[in-house]
Amino acid sequence: MASNSSSLAGLAVLLITAVLCLQLPAASHAQLQVGFYSATCPDAEAIVQQAVAAAVASNAGLAAGLIRLHFHDCFINGCDASVLLSVNPDGSEVERDRPQNNPSLRGFEVVDAARALLEQSCPGTVSCADILAFAARDSVNLTGTDVFYQVPAGRRDGSVSNGTLTTTLPGPNLTADGLVSGFADRNLSAEEMVVLSGAHTLGRSHCNSFIVRNRERLADGTVSPAYQALLEALCPANTSQFTDVTTEIDLSTPTVLDNAYYKLLPLNLGLHFSDDQLVRNGTLRASVDAFAANETLWKEKFVAAMIKMGEISPKTGADGEIRLNCSIVNTPAASPSASAGLIEVLRPGSGDEVATS
Ligand code: HEM
Ligand SMILES: *[C@@H]1O[C@H](CO)[C@@H](O)[C@H](O)[C@H]1NC(C)=O
Ligand SMILES: *[C@@H]1O[C@H](CO)[C@@H](O)[C@H](O)[C@H]1NC(C)=O
Ligand SMILES: *[C@@H]1O[C@H](CO)[C@@H](O)[C@H](O)[C@H]1NC(C)=O
Ligand SMILES: *[C@@H]1O[C@H](CO)[C@@H](O)[C@H](O)[C@H]1NC(C)=O
Ligand SMILES: *[C@@H]1O[C@H](CO)[C@@H](O)[C@H](O)[C@H]1NC(C)=O
Ligand SMILES: *[C@@H]1O[C@H](CO)[C@@H](O)[C@H](O)[C@H]1NC(C)=O
Ligand SMILES: *[C@@H]1O[C@H](CO)[C@@H](O)[C@H](O)[C@H]1NC(C)=O
Ligand SMILES: *[C@@H]1O[C@H](CO)[C@@H](O)[C@H](O)[C@H]1NC(C)=O
Repeated sequence: MASNSSSLAGLAVLLITAVLCLQLPAASHAQLQVGFYSATCPDAEAIVQQAVAAAVASNAGLAAGLIRLHFHDCFINGCDASVLLSVNPDGSEVERDRPQNNPSLRGFEVVDAARALLEQSCPGTVSCADILAFAARDSVNLTGTDVFYQVPAGRRDGSVSNGTLTTTLPGPNLTADGLVSGFADRNLSAEEMVVLSGAHTLGRSHCNSFIVRNRERLADGTVSPAYQALLEALCPANTSQFTDVTTEIDLSTPTVLDNAYYKLLPLNLGLHFSDDQLVRNGTLRASVDAFAANETLWKEKFVAAMIKMGEISPKTGADGEIRLNCSIVNTPAASPSASAGLIEVLRPGSGDEVATS
């Protein structure tokens, strides 16, 4: 009995100490780290790279899809893989089902493939939010020559996907001021907005994102008439079918991460109204011209801005969880909570003592 209560007291001290230690990273400024999985899952980044490389080899467009998934994840509730949830426990609408994301987002199955491979090597260790950040980096690396960056990691996965908030994602009808303020809301500068828009050197867009708005641009003289004629020929007359048809955003080199996007804008060949806005404001235009003139400069800034975007409000430490299936939050039984994990650590190989206490 005496030995039991003293070991209980010891356990309490250990628990309190351990909980304090666990909370330290969350209490001090949330900090992500390069090489976060080097001890717990040394092959984590290689495994994600393998899944991304395989997917991009069979469909180059998936590189674009994965970069946009990370962007849309980070812009709503921070980089917490909320964009991947297909259902909320309370039944409210998830981000990925909203018109800003559906049907345009793609690459979910690549994340699932990486998740499955990771579960074989190091179960329950790598977050879905980090998979998204690694996959975006790998997509950049696979499409751009000489572009690689280290991804600070240690993000944990959120439990809510707030569909209502997708209206705050930057949309194709935004003006220069609207674009700048949407990024400022996430601590990204006007220049970083222009830099990150260069991701539109990859990928596609659906007719509903540009065709109607571009009729106004045609009247304004801000879209090339020949380009708009091409788009009109492409997009169906029936507006209900706009989401069935896509076109490449960078019509010159759609699968190469280069600075062609910035060269097209001054020629009135920007696809979306929002793309075109970057050359209608003197300050933003100066950045466009600098990146059109110097691809190396843009790539350097792009890498830095991708890292910064990936650091928007991460959940770290004891906050969030490591989702075992990226589409759904863990069920309590499937998710070892921080305290359950602690008890495992505190009673290695002994079930009896806990049963009697
Ligand atoms: C500046 C504000 C932005 C606006 C208004 C915007 C808007 C859009 C729109 C309307 C589409 C086409 C969606 C569709 O109909 O299929 C698109 C696609 C895309 N966006 Fe953005 N975007 C912005 C910033 C970004 C950023 C910051 C990134 C990443 C760093 C990004 C990466 C992409 C990619 C890669 C695609 C192609 C996706 C695919 O092919 O699956 N965009 N964007
Ligand atoms: C991808 O990154 C590696 C560095 O890990 C680099 O050597 C390689 O050149 C990059 N790939 C491309 C296509 O730039
Ligand atoms: C979603 O965000 C809105 C706006 O911040 C908030 O009012 C609402 O409660 C959130 N919904 C959920 C399910 O968290
Ligand atoms: C360009 O955009 C910035 C940021 O929104 C704004 O402060 C500035 O007034 C704009 N300049 C012009 C000429 O519209
Ligand atoms: C906002 O961005 C600035 C400049 O990049 C950076 O120094 C600062 O730490 C960021 N603040 C937050 C809260 O992320
Ligand atoms: C953009 O504006 C056009 C009208 O010019 C409208 O038809 C279209 O639905 C708007 N698109 C979005 C995504 O809000
Ligand atoms: C437009 O397309 C929708 C969906 O494909 C179809 O149900 C509808 O009948 C079409 N309308 C016309 C006028 O063709
Ligand atoms: C292009 O930008 C790079 C990186 O900032 C710089 O080192 C280089 O001098 C620039 N090239 C020219 C021609 O300005
Ligand atoms: C993940 O959850 C989704 C949604 O419930 C389900 O369809 C899918 O089969 C699950 N994936 C795995 C690998 O269990």
